[in-house]
Amino acid sequence: MDAFHYQNGELYIEDMPAQEVASAYGTPVYIYSRAAIETAYKTFSSAFSSHDHLICYAVKANSNLGVLSLFARMGAGFDIVSGGELERVIRAGGDPTKVVFSGVGKQDPEIIAALTAGIACFNVESRQELERINYLAQTLGLKAPISIRVNPDVDAKTHPYISTGLKENKFGCSMSDAVDMYKLAATLSNLKISGIDSHIGSQITELAPFLDAMTKILTLVDEIESNNIAIDHIDVGGGLGVQYAEEEPIHLEEYASALSQLMGHRKSKLIFEPGRYLTANAGILVSKVINIKQNEGKNFAIIDAGMNDLIRPALYSSWQQITEVAKTEVDTKKYDVVGPICETGDFLGKNRDLSLAPDDLVAIHSAGAYGFAMSSNYNSRNKPAEVIVSGSKAHCVRSRETIDDQLKLERKFPI
Ligand code: LLP
Repeated sequence: MDAFHYQNGELYIEDMPAQEVASAYGTPVYIYSRAAIETAYKTFSSAFSSHDHLICYAVKANSNLGVLSLFARMGAGFDIVSGGELERVIRAGGDPTKVVFSGVGKQDPEIIAALTAGIACFNVESRQELERINYLAQTLGLKAPISIRVNPDVDAKTHPYISTGLKENKFGCSMSDAVDMYKLAATLSNLKISGIDSHIGSQITELAPFLDAMTKILTLVDEIESNNIAIDHIDVGGGLGVQYAEEEPIHLEEYASALSQLMGHRKSKLIFEPGRYLTANAGILVSKVINIKQNEGKNFAIIDAGMNDLIRPALYSSWQQITEVAKTEVDTKKYDVVGPICETGDFLGKNRDLSLAPDDLVAIHSAGAYGFAMSSNYNSRNKPAEVIVSGSKAHCVRSRETIDDQLKLERKFPI
């Protein structure tokens, strides 16, 4: 059974009514399903089981300690992009030796923390970064494992803001520079060349861009290896799309078999960095209708969650399903579901057929990835609570913020 399902018109997360979580923790509230997270991870892992691989969950998608600890318990690796994410992984019980460090602007203290923690690999973006990591490793008397992030120049056919593998994007080094970068790395005595890396974008629903990228990378690997430089792992990044509306996600088995065909006899370990695939459909945002309003013949449902809680609709015009927590189907109307923030861009969904009244609860689905993680305090709003449901139990893994939490780092100007 789907972790999120209706029973007698009531929305459940596993065996727990959404309504009960909302009454216990208030709204808006992010609710994740432990079973959905674990199933997504196991499905991913078993699809690629015929090849040596490591799944490094992309922490940025949902970095809550409770969520990270579920991945840690399953033996996952982690893809991080900051010192903060490294600290979260460690505090959640994650294994630093299964961490890869991506990101276009790594800073010295972050590099030092990662070296000291003994991470698996730095995904390096430029010559300067290679030299910097070598220098910092030298001062610590360590050897830094590295791979070079190449930009395979393929069109991921996704939203331009989340497409990263085109040559005009800021990420990675060009294919033509890559071999020279590896030759340089081989001369730097505090680096250990471990692999090659790429990440072409996010919410990708076609296989072709992944396979084009892999084909280019493998040609490059041959060229690098012909220079007597061994490539032990190939990191293919994340980016697998999920179903928000009508899109048809890539079938993992198809992806796995196409990859293994391309890999042929090669034994290099595969690293994956999925974020969205593992958490997007494992979470919902539950919110309460504050008011129903009509303007110029349009119906607005004003809810207590806004673009500060879930920015994806406002930022990427993304569509996420919205349903009533208790379905009645009386007096269904077309609603624009909007938040309380003073911006017209503050909407969660437009033209949705819903049956709503003040105080009703709605669920915004597929909110487990890039939901809370991208939330802010805009309009001085407290960030929502986060809850993980497991069976018939709810565990609060982040309390709702208070205004004191928001203000504790600020002070008046001293006059
Ligand atoms: N690895 C790297 C180096 C990345 O930059 C990303 C995401 C991932 C892995 C994970 O990608 P995923 O499997 O989740 O697609 N905020 C946007 C998505 C931004 C993705 C940024 N990079 C959204 O809400 O759609």
